[in-house]
Amino acid sequence: MLSKPLCLFLSAMMATTSLAAAADGRVAADRHGPAYTVDGRLVAPADYREWVYLSSGLDMSYNPKAMASPSPMFDNTFVNPESYRAFASTGRWPDKTVIVLEVRGSAGKGSINQRGHYQSGGVQGMDVHVKDTARFQGGWAFFSFDDGAAPAKQIPVAEACYTCHSAHGAVDTTFVQFYPTLLPVAQQHSTLSAAYLKDTAKLVRSPN
Ligand code: HEC
Repeated sequence: MLSKPLCLFLSAMMATTSLAAAADGRVAADRHGPAYTVDGRLVAPADYREWVYLSSGLDMSYNPKAMASPSPMFDNTFVNPESYRAFASTGRWPDKTVIVLEVRGSAGKGSINQRGHYQSGGVQGMDVHVKDTARFQGGWAFFSFDDGAAPAKQIPVAEACYTCHSAHGAVDTTFVQFYPTLLPVAQQHSTLSAAYLKDTAKLVRSPN
């Protein structure tokens, strides 16, 4: 049997440990959440290259008449790891999700490469989509960091970003239909948007 003072000491220790764990847990859970300046600008996520990779688009265009570019651009998308894990088990984005889309140029010939394209050069632009329901009307907001790493103002809700994402995004205004590890999760959890289901039904009716 433990003597009373030791027992008290141990339970005090345990209380401290669980507090520390809770504090750690909180820090870990919020570690990659959005950070803002006092005037509401979003701070550019610094370590997004260590987040979960979703996909890359190469020379994507929404214009049916767009020509293939001789020097196509890549876009790479990353999401904070906590939100990726939550999506993987529920098919939904939790609050404080941050998705980064970075744009990079490409090259064709270089080193031993003879055909196809690879990513080359620095980041040419970065857009961020943030879910923060207490802060943004509609729950989500867009930010653009084209001018480097300075904190960015929210893109006004009247901009086309919001219209296209809500009219065509597969889950909660995000383009999960282009994120191959997440689309099957959304299908499994039936979290696909009505707008996306309507788009795909149209495609099935007229494949061209
Ligand atoms: C005409 C439709 C359309 C418009 C307008 C549009 N986007 Fe997107 N957006 C897309 C598509 C398609 C993807 C998926 C890209 C991929 O798969 O690489 C995407 C992905 C994104 C992502 C990755 C996160 C997500 O929601 O899936 C961000 C961030 C983003 N767009 C920002 C913007 C911003 C900022 C604007 C406005 C300045 C904008 N978009 C306007 C179609 C659009």
